[in-house]
Amino acid sequence: MARERAAADEPQAQGTEAQPVFSTQSGVPIQERYGPEALQGWDPARQLGEAGSFPYTRGPYPTMYRSRLWTHRQVVGLGTAQETNERNKYVIEHGQTGLSNDYDVPTLIGLDSDDERARGEVGRSGVAIDTLRDMYDVFDGIDLENISVSMTINHPAFILVAQYIAAAQQRGFRLDRLAGTVQNDPLKDFYAQKTYRFSPRPSVRLAADLIEHCAQHMPRWNGISLNGYNIREAGSTADQELAFTFAHAIAYIEELLGRGLPIDSFVSRFSFIFNVHNDFLEEIAKLRAARRMWARLLTERFGARPESVKLRMHVQTGGSTMTYQQPEVNLIRGALQSMAGALGGVQSMAVSCFDEAYSIPSQRAQRLSLRTQQVVGFESGVTKVVDPFAGSYYVESLTDETERRADEWLARVDEQGGAIAAVENGWFERVISDTAHRQHLEVASGERVIVGVNSFEESEESEIETFRVGPGSEAAQLERLKEVRATRDDREVQRLLDVVQETAAAGKNLMPAVIDAVSAYATQGEITDRVLAVDGEYVAPAIY
Ligand code: 3HC
Repeated sequence: MARERAAADEPQAQGTEAQPVFSTQSGVPIQERYGPEALQGWDPARQLGEAGSFPYTRGPYPTMYRSRLWTHRQVVGLGTAQETNERNKYVIEHGQTGLSNDYDVPTLIGLDSDDERARGEVGRSGVAIDTLRDMYDVFDGIDLENISVSMTINHPAFILVAQYIAAAQQRGFRLDRLAGTVQNDPLKDFYAQKTYRFSPRPSVRLAADLIEHCAQHMPRWNGISLNGYNIREAGSTADQELAFTFAHAIAYIEELLGRGLPIDSFVSRFSFIFNVHNDFLEEIAKLRAARRMWARLLTERFGARPESVKLRMHVQTGGSTMTYQQPEVNLIRGALQSMAGALGGVQSMAVSCFDEAYSIPSQRAQRLSLRTQQVVGFESGVTKVVDPFAGSYYVESLTDETERRADEWLARVDEQGGAIAAVENGWFERVISDTAHRQHLEVASGERVIVGVNSFEESEESEIETFRVGPGSEAAQLERLKEVRATRDDREVQRLLDVVQETAAAGKNLMPAVIDAVSAYATQGEITDRVLAVDGEYVAPAIY
């Protein structure tokens, strides 16, 4: 069945009326079978190499999971800092080997919980973080020198990491021992998650301030985690996911190089988060292609050294694949996607929870996602061999084709003038909304089967226990914030906020001034407002 014509922007699978076009979810044509002819002229030395060596197709470490499994890192974030602290401890008790926190919408966009615009959202879809006290309480009783932490925050990332640094120092931890990652990829928020306040160019400057500070003071901390996950969740194809993620990375790299920083002084601590969607073999090929494409990009475009170009990634299995209908079936999707992540050679993983379409996950759902990772990691046997799909006629062909398509898309971003320009002129948003629309039509027409949604439906939906943040959470957070405001030294806070604003106006690295301000319990919102006073609030352009 010939596919409908895609947007002019996208390479299109050519099918003939006579022959059905079998293609991957991202539109790559699939032949009936693949044999030696598929890899004619294919050079394993150039395309494959060994795990732990350039171009890293097979993985970033020579022995991969034979020495260490990927980090089991379910994302946790709800209510107040205490409620999230309890859930952090719960997942550790059930075998989680790394922490990951995400934040409520007010925190994502730099609003304090007592801001009128935050009403009703405080603690609802992530943890509410206003001041250093909240950050301190989120990790209370957790040894931060012995577990890596991930913070899913973008536009205000520089503030929350400043709070994390201050909280760790208050507890006597050494900064050079803190392992962790902050997402800090504001560009994706303009068209993927759409949680932004700062304009594109100032947001890149703020992200670079944080990357530069971490590179100088926190050697085990990844100052950025380029986010392809949300780009895919917004509706991109696998190749667009890679290309647009790397296009963002180029923008941050160029900002840092513009400050005179050598590429090898910071780029090895660039890390990534990608999606693992439903097309099992395409996702494995995509993750393998990502490592090779990144290694080549950094070497050819920026002259980075081989040890700086090793791509390390976290994956989250596709939250958007978790259906509302027949939610237990999501456990099966999560297991397949988790297996694809392991076969794709990831370093850290979160499996979206089966109740994801209903609410932030319940404890039971989190535990089942952890158990999914543990079954794949400890029972399936796939971890005993490095990169088992190496040399596969089909997977190697698909890895090459995914890289080729992603390179094409990256060239199109370059034609737009780079990622910042493609955000500002709405190009990313147009391309992804066109792709998303086409994928929606495939589901609506039944061309793409979603079990329980457009096929194998059931008349009665099963009841599941879902989690809701308690009604008292918002009030409790407001009380916490009120206490901090009442007990801090306001004059000192205002003085330090003036320093933040002056530093921003002078275009200097904001991190030292922000660390001082949060240490005096200036709030996230107060700091955000001072920086917005200099740069202004972003108003997105009409994209069509
Ligand atoms: N051989 C030798 N050493 C090995 C090894 C092996 N096989 N495997 C691992 N190691 C070592 C590593 O070298 C590293 O050593 P170091 O600490 O001295 O550097 C250590 O073991 C830990 O290994 P990794 O760094 O590979 O694993 P981590 O889990 O610590 O880090 C990461 C993984 C991808 C690099 C990191 O950036 C990370 O944890 N990212 C997570 C990001 C995240 O959680 N994001 C979630 C966001 S949620 C979201 O955005 C979606 C939302 O919208 C729903």
